[in-house]
Amino acid sequence: MARKIIIDTDPGQDDAVAILLALASPELELLGITCVAGNVPLSLTAKNARIICELANRPDIRVFAGCDAPMARKLVTAEHVHGKTGLDGITLPDPTMPLQESHAVDFLIETLRAEPEDTVTLVPIGPLTNIATAMTRAPDIIPRIQEIVLMGGGYFEGGNITPAAEFNIYVDPEAAKLVFGAGVPLVVMPLDVTHKALTSRARVEAFRKAGRVGPAVASWTDFFERFDKEKYGSEGAPLHDPCTIAYLLKPELFRGRHINVEIETGSELTLGMTVADWWRVSGRAPNATFMGGIDAEGFFALLTERLARL
Ligand code: BDR
Ligand code: CA
Repeated sequence: MARKIIIDTDPGQDDAVAILLALASPELELLGITCVAGNVPLSLTAKNARIICELANRPDIRVFAGCDAPMARKLVTAEHVHGKTGLDGITLPDPTMPLQESHAVDFLIETLRAEPEDTVTLVPIGPLTNIATAMTRAPDIIPRIQEIVLMGGGYFEGGNITPAAEFNIYVDPEAAKLVFGAGVPLVVMPLDVTHKALTSRARVEAFRKAGRVGPAVASWTDFFERFDKEKYGSEGAPLHDPCTIAYLLKPELFRGRHINVEIETGSELTLGMTVADWWRVSGRAPNATFMGGIDAEGFFALLTERLARL
């Protein structure tokens, strides 16, 4: 039986690749896509998610708009990375499939209540506002969640939006604190992993040839590579968000440790930092499997093979 997932997202080119990977994978049943403000404002993330579904010929997927601002702060966006649409790189048609009428938070709550306990996995690949809002409004859903597999944070690698913080956690640190403290089985794909999953010429050219969606994926990676290559001085750019879906398909591609991870919400200097007790020196109870390593060859091979199926 396919594993039921909900992707909570702020597309974003790398979010788009994660969604396509899920749609290409029969091991996963995508119950819906919940959109949040992040890389670009909510109106654009909700539009982009539908563009991506239509690109994959899946207008049947339900897409919900959620929170348009973090729980306690002003929204910070990342057009400098993703372009002003959030999906710059290739111009795709405006979506014709509808946006669902319910709010994403209501969908999360209703679905987790309706599905049998421990059968729905959440895959947040943007700021954690929708997830934390759902948990705050309906705490009864928390023990019903099978697992949360998220992209966010960084420890040995530092941050990407500030020296200490990764973008998804930085945008809504209060939400992240709630999610990390909720007691749900949590798998974290931080920058420590995603900065080892770098695109290269050969990998992007393999995408380009990967079936119908391949050229769009290659044009997206070409677009955000420009920014990241200059910033990091690397050969390619990290493909962050698809690591979550790849983990659900092939967990053996990743290595990590079950440790305590706390979120900084007080300090201006290190706001949004994921304080990961990698060496287990704090005595605090583990609350997350924090990944540190990836088989990058295996990851790109999986991605290319799956995208070619769409
Ligand atoms: C994360 O931030 C966003 O810009 C990406 O889509 C990814 O989810 C990486 O820090
Ligand atoms: Ca994202």
